Amino acid sequence: MIIRPRRLRVTATMRNFVQETRVSPAMLVYPLFVREGRGMVEEIESLPGQYRYSPDTLPRVLEKVAAAGVNAVLLFGIPEKKDELGSSAWAEDGVVQQALREGKRQFPDFIYITDVCLCEYTSHGHCGLVRDGYVDNDATLPLLAKTALSHVQAGADIVAPSDMMDGRVGAIRAELDRQGFFNTAILSYAVKYASAFYGPFREAAGSVPSFGDRRSYQMDPHNRREAVREVALDIDEGADLVMVKPGLPYLDVLREVAEKSPVPVGSYSVSGEYAMIKAAAQRGWLNEAAAVCEAATGIFRAGADFLITYHACELASWMKEGRL
Ligand code: PBG
Repeated sequence: MIIRPRRLRVTATMRNFVQETRVSPAMLVYPLFVREGRGMVEEIESLPGQYRYSPDTLPRVLEKVAAAGVNAVLLFGIPEKKDELGSSAWAEDGVVQQALREGKRQFPDFIYITDVCLCEYTSHGHCGLVRDGYVDNDATLPLLAKTALSHVQAGADIVAPSDMMDGRVGAIRAELDRQGFFNTAILSYAVKYASAFYGPFREAAGSVPSFGDRRSYQMDPHNRREAVREVALDIDEGADLVMVKPGLPYLDVLREVAEKSPVPVGSYSVSGEYAMIKAAAQRGWLNEAAAVCEAATGIFRAGADFLITYHACELASWMKEGRL
């Protein structure tokens, strides 16, 4: 039966009854930027409505996120000090580690996911160790494993490697197991394309590469089959959850991965997707709520089990109002 308003006088209840795609706030993840310092709540120019928090102000936003009905956050760190190795990434009193301890103490029920990567921490802005002008994949692995371990020791429930080095999921799994953290899950950015849509994020996190680009480790947008292979490899190494990133430009990839993956698949609607809608809405060129609901519906219809989005809190309330 196809129910459309012109055929029947359809109530919202009837429409919901036959809807193929159903969503809930439990499927949303809210990304948050934490920077070093105190008393800081700083709006991000390239992401209007998003802020950088210091560890002590983070609980203020966590309270709002909880009130919106979102259960999971993804933390990104912006350190004071960057160096060649990205050593602030695994510092015991690093910014993400501090934020985790503070957050866990005041809001223990959230699912704390941490982004594991070096690009915010390295002076050159690359996601791995640079040697002779190239990113050295294998030499980066122990540094990522150390970073993931220090996040888990500070309270992370799930670690999410986004660096795209080959073998990092296996290296992280081995290190966590060695230290007895058998139950900590790994969410792999298994399918992460080299995308122009990360532009606003790099401004937000100060992680623009000082030379070259990320095409030697992120995926080529022309390739779809490669996505299925990346997922299989990461699951083999121990990934518990995977994601496809960005969101809207890669719905075909998401669909295919969702059909084939034996583990839950997320979609990351990235900074550029948020910024585009925000910018157009600010000019009155489109209706923000309607556009965000439609885009999220598309992502869920394509097969996402969860969605990481800067619109998570608004989306949760729009879901509760039955707008998608
Ligand atoms: C770190 C990382 C990036 C994003 C998530 N983790 C930036 C990049 O790879 O350049 C992008 C997120 C977004 O654009 O919202 N490697």
